[in-house]
Amino acid sequence: MTTQQNISSYDARFSSILGGAEYDELLLALDWYNEFESQTGLALKKYLQNHCIDATEIKVLEAGPGTGITTLELIKADPRVKVVAVDNEPKMLDVVKGRFATIEELKSRVEFVMADILAFLESCLDESFDVFASVYTLHNFTPDFRNKVIELISKKLKKGGVFINGDKYAEDDEEAHKKDLDGELKSYDKFDDVADEVSKTEGLVRADHFRQVREEWINHMWEDEKVKITVNEQIEMFEKLGFTDVEWGKRYDLVITVSAVKV
Ligand SMILES: C[S@@+](CC[C@H](N)C(=O)[O-])C[C@H]1O[C@@H](n2cnc3c(N)ncnc32)[C@H](O)[C@@H]1O
Repeated sequence: MTTQQNISSYDARFSSILGGAEYDELLLALDWYNEFESQTGLALKKYLQNHCIDATEIKVLEAGPGTGITTLELIKADPRVKVVAVDNEPKMLDVVKGRFATIEELKSRVEFVMADILAFLESCLDESFDVFASVYTLHNFTPDFRNKVIELISKKLKKGGVFINGDKYAEDDEEAHKKDLDGELKSYDKFDDVADEVSKTEGLVRADHFRQVREEWINHMWEDEKVKITVNEQIEMFEKLGFTDVEWGKRYDLVITVSAVKV
């Protein structure tokens, strides 16, 4: 459970306008969002081609399921996958639980837990998961908190288990990173286009909502910049924690999917 000591400002971000079902409005701005999410499922599929061959169940720990977009990708990757999905935001969990409750198969394959991911990891047995997976969650943590989370993930993964993270990883080259930031900023302008459209059909209140959403995501992006992790920093962390077979997927502006196997 979240305690006062480990609550970060980030924890509150998804309890207001960016949270709940409205979180999915992000798809209006980032046209590659679904393709990016699918990279996590593909990374898991690829890993399972050579690992866990005889396993009847693949135990996946997911941090920050949000509205369930990533969770679905994990489920779709292999019929043996069972996910424990940990999120500390009730507004997000309400949405995802509601969505998943309507699909019988999903009910038996996903367990949602309301908890802070660090506290949850601390409560898990060592080497108890085959897979850790997450999208768009770890990058927001403060570096200290994130390091603690990743260190614990490495302890809780089985030997030969995989870490998959689709997330913001800044390019180490400053110019390339600036270009990525510009790309994301431009995408958020699409919220203004949506606002213009809905002002004609749904009125000004709805249009204002989308303009506010644009502002919030832009603020969020600059907040993320303060705690950003670069590709090389993540590689160094993998080396320190004894991960191998590091593979990077396709980059979409600021985000990219990485997988690494625990030795
Ligand atoms: C940006 S959403 C990502 C949702 C989904 N994975 C996706 O890619 O669409 C991040 C999620 O992480 C959750 N989260 C943030 N801090 C957390 C923490 N310390 N422990 C568990 N979940 C956390 C938020 O509540 C939110 O639902």
